[in-house]
Amino acid sequence: MSAFKINAIPTTPFGDQKPGTSGLRKRVKVFQQENYTHNFIQATLNAMTSPCAEGSTLVVGGDGRYFSKEAIQIIIRVAAGNKVSKLIIGKDGILSTPAASNIIRKRKADGGILLTASHNPGGPENDFGIKFNVSNGGPAPENVTNSIYEHSKNIKQVFVGEVPEIDLSTIGVQTFEGFTVEIVDSVHDYAILLKEIFDFELIKSFFAKNPNYKVLFDGLHGVTGPYSERIFVEELGLPRSSIQNCVPLPDFGGGHPDPNLTYAHSLVERVEKENINFGAASDGDGDRNMIYGKGAFVTPSDSVAIIAAHAEVIPYFQKTGVKGLARSMPTSAAIDLVAKKKGLEIFEVPTGWKFFGNLMDAGRLSICGEESFGTGSDHIREKDGIWAVVAWLNIIAAANEKKPGFGIRDILLEHYHTYGRNFFSRYDYEEVNGDGANKMITHLRHLVGPGKSEFVGKTFGQFTISSADDFEYHDPIDNSVSKNQGIRIIFTDGSRIVIRLSGTGSQGATVRLYVEKYSQNVSEYESDTQEALKPLIDVALEISKLQQFTGREKPTVIT
Ligand code: G6P
Ligand code: ZN
Repeated sequence: MSAFKINAIPTTPFGDQKPGTSGLRKRVKVFQQENYTHNFIQATLNAMTSPCAEGSTLVVGGDGRYFSKEAIQIIIRVAAGNKVSKLIIGKDGILSTPAASNIIRKRKADGGILLTASHNPGGPENDFGIKFNVSNGGPAPENVTNSIYEHSKNIKQVFVGEVPEIDLSTIGVQTFEGFTVEIVDSVHDYAILLKEIFDFELIKSFFAKNPNYKVLFDGLHGVTGPYSERIFVEELGLPRSSIQNCVPLPDFGGGHPDPNLTYAHSLVERVEKENINFGAASDGDGDRNMIYGKGAFVTPSDSVAIIAAHAEVIPYFQKTGVKGLARSMPTSAAIDLVAKKKGLEIFEVPTGWKFFGNLMDAGRLSICGEESFGTGSDHIREKDGIWAVVAWLNIIAAANEKKPGFGIRDILLEHYHTYGRNFFSRYDYEEVNGDGANKMITHLRHLVGPGKSEFVGKTFGQFTISSADDFEYHDPIDNSVSKNQGIRIIFTDGSRIVIRLSGTGSQGATVRLYVEKYSQNVSEYESDTQEALKPLIDVALEISKLQQFTGREKPTVIT
């Protein structure tokens, strides 16, 4: 067992290491600056309190994007320098975000360092990211990320262990004096987990009985490649042609690894052209998902509501029961209606998966989702792209037992006939001038702020405002308060407009405008979303003066 020397290297702070919604995300070039990555890892380890970094076990892995391998070698040396006891690292540095969350929980690690900028493009000119997860497997809560930021601003030295470069490609354990590095298979534990959750036999027998049922999964050259190969091809027996773009690439093949109608267009086109029954995609780090059937895009807000409505066909929920449901504030209220019908508790939390963790740990939440293509459950503490895809396959396979030929579109329509339809869309205005975006938010805060009751009752077109605020969340478990989480304008007919600035961009500001309209008019259930929402979008643009403040006529992305 070899001993190694620890050096205290003097450093100076970078003022910009404040983690956002999902960790620190910056251009690769920023992380490549001398000591930048070292500083952030040191600040992260300094922020660990129970337990401290010394003697702890941490999981390390990511989506394999450009700069990951260099960052992992830095993490290994800084962890050794801080007397971390053990690192569990995915082979070649690969662990999807859900797989990392699972390993943290399963191996009872004290936390994890995830190397990903999720759905942001990768490569030398694009983004890298570092995210810290805590021992429940979920993203660090705000008190921890704030502490990391404080440490980063005051950092004076980084402790670096003189360990040799570690070969990440060989599974096995490498031991030094007081420090162990274990390289693990990236997929193995995750595959076991999913097989415990879902009815793989039912899904397999559905495929066997319906040999013409075509599935296409698109990994967008992100981390899910090896996971989809294992789950869809090896375990569920689908042909290899059922997965595309499933070789992870450090720059995602030059694409934007975000599963939505804009960036997963090659999937959408193939589903439509080749009459594929079931299309799905996941993002760079494997926690987002999109479900797309021929002529039937499943909006993420509907997706989570439908999974909740059909939870009884999923073995995991048969065992645990459904304890409660939740969504992020901008997500449509479709899931609220399911909760109401089933007599379940429903929670509305700010944007960010970390807000679900406390509720899950307290045993009050089983299924939750966000409009931003995140769906998941309390099986781990991250959203889970492949979990959502298999959940849908499980639901379709079960529905076909009673109703042969029942597809994605049928499931959607059946849901609308039971619950009504929540039309929902999001307009993104990416990389707008930060100043203009902030002025717009100030203008909106002024409109809805306390004491501005004259705004309520005002009518715009066919819509009359019934309430308006800047969303504030009181966590019922730890009583923490999160203020200024987005402007909400709610109308008397239940329609809503939400406007907030993204917390995940790395350049300029991204304005997100969300609109939702509820309908119980059966003749509208098959209407086009954009047409149904047009009058509300016009009102949103009028109230926010978005075009005036940002200079943007059109959104960059519509989901
Ligand atoms: C990440 C987080 C999500 C969040 C999403 C959008 O994917 O994990 O929880 O909903 O970002 O965040 P943004 O602040 O960009 O709207
Ligand atoms: Zn992601």
